[in-house]
Amino acid sequence: MARHFIAAPSYAFIAGGSGRDRTVAANLAAFDAYAVTPRLLRDVGQGNTRLRLLDEDLPHPLLLAPVSQQRLVHPQGERETARGADAADACMVVSTHASTDLYELVREADGRRWFQMYCQPQQAATETLLQRAEAAGYSAIVVTLDAALQAPSLQALRAGFRMPANLRGVNVDVPGEGLAPVSTSAGSRIFQGYMHQAPSPEDLAWLVETASVPVLAKGVLHPDDAVALRRLGMAGIVVSNHGGRSLDGAPASLTVLPAIRSAVGDDYPVLVDSGIRSGADVFTALALGANAVLIGRLQVYALSVAGALGVAHMLRLLREELELCMAFAGCASLAETRAAALQRQPWDRLPAKR
Ligand code: FNR
Repeated sequence: MARHFIAAPSYAFIAGGSGRDRTVAANLAAFDAYAVTPRLLRDVGQGNTRLRLLDEDLPHPLLLAPVSQQRLVHPQGERETARGADAADACMVVSTHASTDLYELVREADGRRWFQMYCQPQQAATETLLQRAEAAGYSAIVVTLDAALQAPSLQALRAGFRMPANLRGVNVDVPGEGLAPVSTSAGSRIFQGYMHQAPSPEDLAWLVETASVPVLAKGVLHPDDAVALRRLGMAGIVVSNHGGRSLDGAPASLTVLPAIRSAVGDDYPVLVDSGIRSGADVFTALALGANAVLIGRLQVYALSVAGALGVAHMLRLLREELELCMAFAGCASLAETRAAALQRQPWDRLPAKR
């Protein structure tokens, strides 16, 4: 339904990934490559989806991923999303590039909030953002590492998408879509420009040291990076390819999840996103090693159609689909889901049309 509620160029910007959308397609196909084996005669009468994550008890493993500029699809934007998240008992991860003041989203309701951090070119600006988020009551920081530069989306370019000027810079200065000019006295605008401003291991160590709440790293796709981030003191990681919006051609998050889980060990918080479109997909992610999942585009689609109610309804559907899948697979808890049997389907790829 979102197609009817979102202007076509904005829809292309949201639905699209970077480049030719190869990773967007890979994300969807990765989930379809798995089958869940139903089990019979298991007692799931005490079944639940509870978990403990970063010393907090959560009723289910669904979080809202940080998604920028939500006023693009609804006049109240993130405010409505926050209300929807609270109604469904879900933690909302608020983007640095939200189109609503980060204080307002905590004042609106008293639900669980994490803050997604884009490290700013000046450390003082990052520190101010961190202090504001902590003062507002955000209980964790998710630092995104895979988007130091924004790779252009052909789909959005073709549709003629332009970010409306009034949606820029509510919490920080938001760069425009695509590669904006950066000032480099010499050399490449990629290497010496954008990547020069990307956070270094020292910046991350500083962030962990300075923050009074847990810090997680988002955008991990390689087991060695996961291990390095754990050593830097990250409280957890998000296995993610930014919903296919960073490197076009990057592997599906789901595909790399098992190797990352085995590299960091069983006890380390590993979240995953990119391509989750149903509760069965959530089940698959949990069975392959995730503690919890983040929901990206679905929240924007739901927001555009029915505001807070839409977001709450979408989360409820996902939760019930997850419970249904657990029940059929004979899993009464998320621990049992982790041990559930998945099978590879006999095909490698399905057309990613869903
Ligand atoms: C994003 N994502 C994102 N991630 C982040 O860390 N900070 C951000 O500001 C944004 N903004 C953003 C805008 C839009 C329009 C989209 C679609 C995505 C990425 C997001 O957090 C998440 O990783 C993906 O959306 C997950 O993939 P799915 O669920 O959309 O397939």
